[in-house]
Amino acid sequence: MKKYSVCIVGGGSTFTLGFLKSFCRMKEQFPLKKLVLFDIDAERQEPIGEFGKILFKEQFPELDFSYTTDIKEAYEGMDFVFMQMRAGGLPMRAKDEHIPLSMGLIGQETCGAGGMAYGLRSCVDMIKAVHDIRNYAPEAWILNYSNPAAIVAEALRREFPDDKKILNICDQPENVVRSCSRLLGCDWENLDPVYFGLNHYGWFTNIYDIKTGEDLLPKLRELIKKNGFLPQDAEQRDQSWLDTYGMVETLMNDFPDFLPNTYDQYYLYPDYKAAHLDPNFTRADEVMAGREKRVFDECREVIAAGVLGDKFDDISDAHAEMMINVAEAIAYNKNTRHILIVENNGAIANMQDDAMVEVVCELGINGPRPMRVGNIPQFYLGLLVNQVSCEKLIVDAYFENSYQKALMAFTLNRLINDGKKARKVLDALIEANKGMWPELK
Ligand code: NAD
Ligand code: G6P
Ligand code: MN
Repeated sequence: MKKYSVCIVGGGSTFTLGFLKSFCRMKEQFPLKKLVLFDIDAERQEPIGEFGKILFKEQFPELDFSYTTDIKEAYEGMDFVFMQMRAGGLPMRAKDEHIPLSMGLIGQETCGAGGMAYGLRSCVDMIKAVHDIRNYAPEAWILNYSNPAAIVAEALRREFPDDKKILNICDQPENVVRSCSRLLGCDWENLDPVYFGLNHYGWFTNIYDIKTGEDLLPKLRELIKKNGFLPQDAEQRDQSWLDTYGMVETLMNDFPDFLPNTYDQYYLYPDYKAAHLDPNFTRADEVMAGREKRVFDECREVIAAGVLGDKFDDISDAHAEMMINVAEAIAYNKNTRHILIVENNGAIANMQDDAMVEVVCELGINGPRPMRVGNIPQFYLGLLVNQVSCEKLIVDAYFENSYQKALMAFTLNRLINDGKKARKVLDALIEANKGMWPELK
């Protein structure tokens, strides 16, 4: 069995620990030869790297593991590059959320004004990073889940039009499927979903039982009404995630055709959500006080002890498991089904070909083969055409250094939806992102 070399970009991410552990748990399934962590912030990455050394010494001693801030060391000879960078870090995420909220608009990591602000930063850093990777590893598969994945996917599509080995992925559709399996009392892998949308904006039209072919969506609709909707993944247990999953019930009551992605709440209830988010303690604050603290405390504890102790168990990390499954599908040409972000080209029949859409794909060594969903109903089409236009306009703003395009993207966005509000929040975000955005003229 061939063994693979993997680099993780954003080695200092709060999600890296989950990956390091999952690479140990899944070493029979996806055997690694070499793993390198890369980050531009040496200080942030170091404790995670040192934790990794202790983990692999105990659990995976044959693995060649290192961490670095040098791009040649990071990328040369890699088969897969997993990308999880956060351009500007969590402090800039906090600004993306606080600035719009201070104006009565939703402040969110990937949606609305904050998402577009993060999008412009990510365009700058991701395009540079992909050029660096291609310099040293022209054949590596690049699996990107750095956010906002919709905007990043559109920017990479334009900058690298002939590159067939860049794949953009989000775990939230699969997280929703996992939550359904919890309600149905079955294994999530027994569920065979049909899904359409954009990244962080989509719906499940059917959830089939993979063995019998029965559509379980009607049953799920009843179960959600009766029991509500809860996250399955242990990483999504903070109060804001519980609130988010709770909104699925409301969404299904108002728009019962399909099962929504949790992110649809922002687009369908922008006023309600803006009024219910705490402008003094947003999700970034919750992450810094929660996941970030937990991860770095755990590293410090293990480093001080010099041994793992009870810091390793069999409980899977859904996010890491999913991304490793994607790499495995490519490596071993498994042609398994995954929900991925791909160029439309008819997958959603009544949407433009060059939209980056999120649909079920079969995935193997030659890349994703999207499964068609046909025409989508007018209501959903209207919502998605609006949003894909915003995403394209903000990427235009990046490539053309255009203030006007950015203003159009902000004005069109359902979470802003007004030219005056758009200009005000855009100007404040330009100020906050000095040096991290392209200059908009
Ligand atoms: P984080 O801030 O804890 O980690 C990000 C790391 O990236 C930091 O260590 C930072 O120093 C590093 N970084 C920043 N710019 C970089 C660059 N140009 N090159 C290399 N490294 C760089 O953030 P987090 O909360 O752990 O999230 C990491 C990323 O993963 C975010 O983009 C997040 O949105 C994304 N994510 C996406 C999904 C998905 O479904 N698509 C799921 C989980 C996380
Ligand atoms: C989900 C989404 C990601 C998002 C992640 C973390 O997995 O699909 O795109 O980045 O949640 O969100 P959080 O708010 O916990 O940092
Ligand atoms: Mn996502």
